[in-house]
Amino acid sequence: PQIRPLVAGNWKMNGLRAALSEVEALASTHPSPACDVLLCPPATLIGAMVDAAQGSPIQVGGQDCHAAQSGAHTGDIAAEMIADAGGTAVIVGHSERRADHAEDDAMVKAKAEAALRAGLLAVVCVGETEADRDAGRTLDVVLGQLAGSLPDGASAENTVIAYEPVWAIGTGRVPQISDIAQVHDALRGALTDRLSDGASVRLLYGGSVKPSNAAEIFAVENVNGGLVGGASLKAADFGGIIAVT
Ligand code: G3H
Repeated sequence: PQIRPLVAGNWKMNGLRAALSEVEALASTHPSPACDVLLCPPATLIGAMVDAAQGSPIQVGGQDCHAAQSGAHTGDIAAEMIADAGGTAVIVGHSERRADHAEDDAMVKAKAEAALRAGLLAVVCVGETEADRDAGRTLDVVLGQLAGSLPDGASAENTVIAYEPVWAIGTGRVPQISDIAQVHDALRGALTDRLSDGASVRLLYGGSVKPSNAAEIFAVENVNGGLVGGASLKAADFGGIIAVT
């Protein structure tokens, strides 16, 4: 199938209101990208970024959501709140959430299902640690996370999978292209086994994507875009990645 790529940026815990000038710069320099574009700022900036991106193709999303719709969960936000703020997507199961907040596959699945209930695109993250890779367990770990985290009701329309090797995040290290291809082929196989439209689900690669390496990574058969951290903070870098799709 012809799949429109998605380039998603994750600002992580970075960004004050002054940084919204980067969104305005991105919107003006890339008025009609050849891919879908999503930026996920800290929750404090979602509403303001939606305003800054108004009239542009840039979509805005959250970095996490709670599995419940509302209630006594101090500090958390619900998927519906992201949608209410004008967001259209949410990242769930990022390795930093899995590590810092002990999120397991069942929690990630519940969060992804909350995202779908709120009408958001769920960007479900999977990825092996360096120890997993050294032990030859990469495919076991990644396919296990996929099986455990994929929301019920997932489809190519409402769910995206992001493969992010933990050791490649923020390190400047990127797997061999053949290793990226192997994992993405395995993810594609598992998705086509499980979903009727699994062949069309977008598979993003994440981990030290930059303008200089994005073209080679995005050319891999089952790579349908990227999840970009550090290089999504500046319009010039993020725009450079968008431009090679
Ligand atoms: O969500 C994004 C990733 O964790 C990648 O981060 O591009 O800074 O390596 P990075």
